[in-house]
Amino acid sequence: MCGIVGAVAQRDVAEILVEGLRRLEYRGYDSAGLAIVDENENFNCLRRLGKVQQLADALEEHEAKGGTGIAHTRWATHGEPSEINAHPHMSGDIAVVHNGIIENHEVLRELLVSRGYVFESQTDTEVIAHLVDWESRQCDSLREALQNTVKQLDGAYGTVLFDRKDPTRIVVARSGSPIVIGLGIGENFLASDQLALLNVTRRFMFLEEGDVAEITRREVSVFDVNGHSVEREVKESNVSHDAGDKGEYRHYMMKEIHEQPLALQRSLEGRLINGQVNAAAFGENAAELLSQVKHVQIIACGTSYHAGLVARYWLEEWAGVSCNVEIASEFRYRKSHVFENSLLVTISQSGETADTLAALRLAKEMGYMASLTICNVPGSSLVRESDMAYMMKAGAEIGVASTKAFTVQLAGLLMLAGAIGHYNALTEEQEAQLVTALQSLPTKIEQTLSMADAIEALAEDFADKHHSLFLGRGEQSAIAMEGALKLKEISYIHAEAYAAGELKHGPLALIDAEMPVIVVAPNNELLEKLKSNVEEVRARGGLMYVFADVNAAFASDETMKVLSVPHCDDFIAPIIYTVPLQLLSYYVALIKGTDVDQPRNLAKSVTVE
Ligand code: M6R
Repeated sequence: MCGIVGAVAQRDVAEILVEGLRRLEYRGYDSAGLAIVDENENFNCLRRLGKVQQLADALEEHEAKGGTGIAHTRWATHGEPSEINAHPHMSGDIAVVHNGIIENHEVLRELLVSRGYVFESQTDTEVIAHLVDWESRQCDSLREALQNTVKQLDGAYGTVLFDRKDPTRIVVARSGSPIVIGLGIGENFLASDQLALLNVTRRFMFLEEGDVAEITRREVSVFDVNGHSVEREVKESNVSHDAGDKGEYRHYMMKEIHEQPLALQRSLEGRLINGQVNAAAFGENAAELLSQVKHVQIIACGTSYHAGLVARYWLEEWAGVSCNVEIASEFRYRKSHVFENSLLVTISQSGETADTLAALRLAKEMGYMASLTICNVPGSSLVRESDMAYMMKAGAEIGVASTKAFTVQLAGLLMLAGAIGHYNALTEEQEAQLVTALQSLPTKIEQTLSMADAIEALAEDFADKHHSLFLGRGEQSAIAMEGALKLKEISYIHAEAYAAGELKHGPLALIDAEMPVIVVAPNNELLEKLKSNVEEVRARGGLMYVFADVNAAFASDETMKVLSVPHCDDFIAPIIYTVPLQLLSYYVALIKGTDVDQPRNLAKSVTVE
């Protein structure tokens, strides 16, 4: 998704802006640009299609000096990726960058054309530039002009602008797209994500919905949705500074796959005590609330949705409560019913996914007893707007394909099943077993990672394939879905996932030697059923790759390659079987030569609907 960085300083800010954009590259984008002005009103605007490096190269040729600047990486929504559609957009002396979507841009465009404005781009953002220009002619300050402008906008925006005739200030508005202000000494910054600014400050002020702020070198003034001056808390960030470093790995994705043992260890630390889950991990008064839960409604998107699907099995079996799981973009536009004593759970790595956030806001008006978010980013919108938060502590995830966030989400959800189950169906013995299983996760994942070489060799078989099918039963059907998502996301191979028992109801028709079938087969009570499904595939000439428990008695032959997965407790099997599928997608993508960390058309944090 789009990224924003801005600065008002005495020093030249070009390097700070470019470094900030680099730190946001992982979010996915197609073009980059910046506008800088110095104290004598010398102004430069540069935009490039492609990577931030192209913008950095352009800066070598066209020096842009000055202490006030804004910069942007664009992920196209309205208008193709091109230099002309890249931000900043200009209107007279006003330079604007924007994240989000202006839904009424067509009506506004017509209005502005009737006022004599000429549009250069196909973007919705350009209406903001012209509206601010128009409004600034009718009022006394740029801030007032922005306040009058946002009243006319429908949709989501985090927008930042300055007037080249007044290089001392930047103004910004937030509604639906996050903006954080970074506080320096005699200089101030802003960005769409604190990661962009960690090299210049660790003190942050998070704007709230509807806020408009004015930022100068020495001051930050914030006004709420009603135009009243307000104070926003300043927080010290503890997000890791080296989040942007790939270390010894070629890609962030591989680094993050290997970080899983440590991420899980950090995430579980202090949360499992005396054979029990410490309910305080979910929030201060969580124990009392969780003791009353009778139903759980989970809402999420993508990989986080798959985590929710696994959690449904755990919550129903171990916690003894009913559970629905729904994709946020469906939930928010559907009439649904709230059961008594129902807990709403959102799952999100970023905490900023627009659909999930909108679903939470809608659900809060529907009468759920409380909302809980399982989230990786402190201070994110979902964390701030939920009643309770389970902070994942997985560390920043940079690769667009979610890996460590998924396994850490699953661990948190298993803990949730344990915490709710404590008051319901779970026996003391089962709770202790669940806790021991969770504690074994870092070691078990470490052992599973040793399958990497065997999986790398197997990936060769996928090099010329265009389709694939993933199968699993029970919770593993959701892991099959996650495996399929990973493969299609980064290798661009079409991948579908099915609960293996569903094969005979249609997908069997697809089976032939050109369709690799990937099966996840832990040694559980569904193993024999799964073996029958495997035979159904074999009988139709399918080629299978089975990730099976060492004791599951599968043997490789000419139609089936079996890779042994270390034995683990049933509780954590979904988490363990995720790892070989992550490795498979990674190695297939390497062979395909795709952009592993920033796959085409995708964004890390999906802040638009
Ligand atoms: O930040 P979130 O967990 O809310 O993001 C949800 C999805 O956009 C995300 O999981 C997406 O599916 C990933 N690219 C999958 O690898």
